[in-house]
Amino acid sequence: MKYRPLGRTGWNVSEISFGAWAIGGFWGQVSEEDAMKTLHKAIDCGVNFIDTADVYGDGRSERLIAKLKKQRREEIIVATKAGRKLPRQTVEGYSRENLTTWIDDSLKRLEADALDLLQLHCPPTDAYYHPEIFGMLDDFVKEGKLLYYGVSVERVEEALKAIEFPNVQSVQIIFNCFRQRPAELFFPNAQEKKVGILARVPLASGLLTGKLRRDSTFPADDHRNFNRHGEMFDVGETFSGVDYDRGLEAVDQIKKLLPSDVSMSQFALRWILMFDAVSCAIPGGKRPEQVADNCRASELALLSAEIMTEIKQIYDEKIGPQVRQRW
Ligand SMILES: NC(=O)c1ccc[n+]([C@@H]2O[C@H](COP(=O)([O-])OP(=O)(O)OC[C@H]3O[C@@H](n4cnc5c(N)ncnc54)[C@H](OP(=O)(O)O)[C@@H]3O)[C@@H](O)[C@H]2O)c1
Repeated sequence: MKYRPLGRTGWNVSEISFGAWAIGGFWGQVSEEDAMKTLHKAIDCGVNFIDTADVYGDGRSERLIAKLKKQRREEIIVATKAGRKLPRQTVEGYSRENLTTWIDDSLKRLEADALDLLQLHCPPTDAYYHPEIFGMLDDFVKEGKLLYYGVSVERVEEALKAIEFPNVQSVQIIFNCFRQRPAELFFPNAQEKKVGILARVPLASGLLTGKLRRDSTFPADDHRNFNRHGEMFDVGETFSGVDYDRGLEAVDQIKKLLPSDVSMSQFALRWILMFDAVSCAIPGGKRPEQVADNCRASELALLSAEIMTEIKQIYDEKIGPQVRQRW
């Protein structure tokens, strides 16, 4: 595993880290035993950074990570999120009172004295025009409840606005072969300001693993079943907002570029790591084998300029027209 600096935090994080949404909820059932084995495998593979949120499984994901931390001696940096407990996303919801409650609850579940990195969890765009929210986060850092804070965003424009606040240390954004726009304007800006970038949904919710088919089915409590059209949260979080069949066609084209003995998941993650601005990709996983497969991406050779151009062409022709203008 290779490590990269996360913005100005002084942390070096595993370039393939771990996203702990699926072991919490909304991805079908994952037993506690499987979830713990998956987390342990991540640490065995050199992962030192885990992304979670207070709402993943209503706190389950955070509790499992607390358990992991007690069972391991390695340093494990935990980034959590707050804001999605709100019944409706409003700027007013990001009040001092609410933030205090959410932070205190995460501290309890993670059994920590301070949160390593708290991210606002896709707040409404208008929140970035309210500096007092970021002022409150500064206060929580001064009080010692947070070491650092950052944001998780839906849109490139929100990312650009967020990094105007000088103490935003990280931006989490969807970035993968099917979501290339962040690399154009946002990445150079974030790099200049030394803001860390967490590439989320790096496998397009499993599409970019190459295992999905036209007739694949998903459990009733899996967002790939119930959020395909944005019924519960932003449609971009499910398959990166790409039409399923169109996504499968593009995956078939990408598969032709795979070097031998490289899995599609590894290839998709290696593509992300080709961008220096990215601090880490945070693929989710429900089983140890998935994590081991994904972590191998860090050891792969760089992709050639020709392959990068071909992936850009596939994106420009098949995917970009559906997603570019939205996020
Ligand atoms: N708003 C936000 O801030 C937000 C939103 C979304 C995600 N996130 C964060 O980003 C992380 C990653 O995104 P994501 O989990 O949505 O999607 P993802 O990483 O693109 O896809 C993860 C899913 O793909 C499958 N998978 C993973 N590795 C595989 C492998 N090697 N082979 C075969 N299948 C594999 C697993 O599901 P199956 O086995 O069921 O197919 C896994 O749960 C999340 O865990 C979360 O921490 C944040």
